[in-house]
Amino acid sequence: MILLAIESTCDETGAAVLEGDGVGVPRTRSSVVSSQIGLHRRFGGVVPEIASRAHVRQVVPMVDEALKRAGVELKDLDAVAVATRPGLVGALVVGLTAAKALALALDVPLVTVDHLEGHLYACQLANPESEVYPCVGLVVSGGHSSLYACRGPLDCELLGGTIDDAAGEAFDKVASLLGLGYPGGPEIEKAARAGNPKAYAFPRTFLRDPRLAFSFSGLKTAVLYALRGPNEERGEVRPTPEQTADLAASFQEAVVDVLVAKARQALERTGMRRLGVGGGVAANSRFREKLAAAMEATGADMFIPPPSLCTDNAAMVAGVALLKLAAGQTADLDVDVAAGLVRPKRGG
Ligand code: KG4
Ligand code: ZN
Repeated sequence: MILLAIESTCDETGAAVLEGDGVGVPRTRSSVVSSQIGLHRRFGGVVPEIASRAHVRQVVPMVDEALKRAGVELKDLDAVAVATRPGLVGALVVGLTAAKALALALDVPLVTVDHLEGHLYACQLANPESEVYPCVGLVVSGGHSSLYACRGPLDCELLGGTIDDAAGEAFDKVASLLGLGYPGGPEIEKAARAGNPKAYAFPRTFLRDPRLAFSFSGLKTAVLYALRGPNEERGEVRPTPEQTADLAASFQEAVVDVLVAKARQALERTGMRRLGVGGGVAANSRFREKLAAAMEATGADMFIPPPSLCTDNAAMVAGVALLKLAAGQTADLDVDVAAGLVRPKRGG
């Protein structure tokens, strides 16, 4: 089966063509992404309306490019897939509308995919020789910090997530406080290399709490207070390069410590022996390093895709879609998007 997938949940327009039988790990024939980072940079974050408009401009060129690079034509497609949840509602609607139009015109099935299941399936796509599932899934991106118990690629139960900012969002906001560029994650990582991670004792919220939950807004405020003191007037504060490096390193260390501790906790709670990680923050080398050490200590196997499969892309959506297609899980043409996260079934 040859399937085309579209990804438009946030600020990346992606299209990919994958070929597979719905049982084994599929072959990626093409995967292209048009990033909107340049459009959102001056706002320090994703502006939903700008994102929707950019998806409208990019979705057809991305589909054309993916088909061209895969060496297939529209008539060769057996199905069309799209990520319909969670994400920015206007952005989601663009991808879904394009996918519906193609499915209708080509008279092929439409498959809808949960973007977060896609992020976790990227671990399997990147490791075709390994069994990734069952695993604990950790998605850490600009929009999500969530833990899942994945009994299989299509059976992921949300164990818990952030009660305020996502991890990547915290990186972006702290980078902005420090006068660094956007997106903040790579900038903080770069600045942190010259800094001391112990220079500031920032809070590690929920570290010893039994709940599988995250909170990063207090940490962000702690960085702000370290920068300018709790009682000082608002206004621009310019840290020295040494201060910036120490603040960045101490902040990064606090985020990483919590993410690693919660991943361990979820493995203990579920009794699972494998961890799959996805999302842009998984590109952070300090995180990868500390997580790898922790997983080695616990004897669990860790799977993190290469950075191009960590950030938003349509190949991960297509991978999940081929499994759903084989399982007969296709969608009607009146299906809608769902902006929000599916809530935990219990606890959290
Ligand atoms: O998964 P992604 O590309 O898009 C979303 O679905 O959000 O993740 C983007 C997020 C941004 O917040 C960015 O700052 C963060 O991932 N990020 C990083 C790094 N690279 C990207 N955070 C920490 N360290 C990095 N190296
Ligand atoms: Zn994502």
